[in-house]
Amino acid sequence: MLALIRAETHADIGTDHAALPLALIEAGRCGRVIAAELHPGPLRLAQMAVMRAGLSQQIEVRQGDGFVPIAPDEVQSASLTGMGARTIRAILTRASWLPPQMVLQPNAEPEVLRGWAQSHGYHLTAEALVAGFWRYPVLKFEQSPGPDPAYAGLPRAAALRYGPHLLKSADPHLHAELNAQVQRLSKLAAHGRPQVLAELRVVQDALAFLPEVPVPSR
Ligand SMILES: C[S@@+](CC[C@H](N)C(=O)[O-])C[C@H]1O[C@@H](n2cnc3c(N)ncnc32)[C@H](O)[C@@H]1O
Repeated sequence: MLALIRAETHADIGTDHAALPLALIEAGRCGRVIAAELHPGPLRLAQMAVMRAGLSQQIEVRQGDGFVPIAPDEVQSASLTGMGARTIRAILTRASWLPPQMVLQPNAEPEVLRGWAQSHGYHLTAEALVAGFWRYPVLKFEQSPGPDPAYAGLPRAAALRYGPHLLKSADPHLHAELNAQVQRLSKLAAHGRPQVLAELRVVQDALAFLPEVPVPSR
């Protein structure tokens, strides 16, 4: 995640305990971070964490909904992490402005955000699966005109669901996940439900695109 963010001033929206802003400053990835949070409880946690770390000069904690507490052009990039994809999309949709670079980490359904980006002038320039409770997708978007070249030559539904860069790089963790999905969906498909069959086809399209790679140990 840290490797995908570098900015003079960055905004972390929905910062909770401000772990990401602290890590960004400590790793020298940003000069300054605005840590934005809607709810009073997490807001207090963020304020205390920043004070305890002695980083109040570099990290400013602000309260508000999404991008509202940040002025346009105040930051060059933003992150929204650890939320549902639909919650993140709702925050992006409500925003009256958005920065040119964003790193989004939904808990699931990354296709919701890849699809949003395609119709809102952002290209997916990098993505990764990061280890956590399960493997979370981390998506980096940059404002750019025209169709996103990352999707060229790929089956659309599979690329939206599993990620064009992850498919092209034959990410071994993605390979393992797709094999597990085929096994799960093949059993369910025996009942002939159209939605399961369609889902299975998307996974098979994705797998067909990947060369054979060794299954990772973890
Ligand atoms: C599950 S936490 C994730 C925290 C952190 N970003 C992480 O990745 O660990 C989601 C946080 O987003 C905050 N939040 C939810 N909706 C928000 C909104 N519209 N604007 C700002 N913060 C919001 C919640 O209060 C909560 O602290």
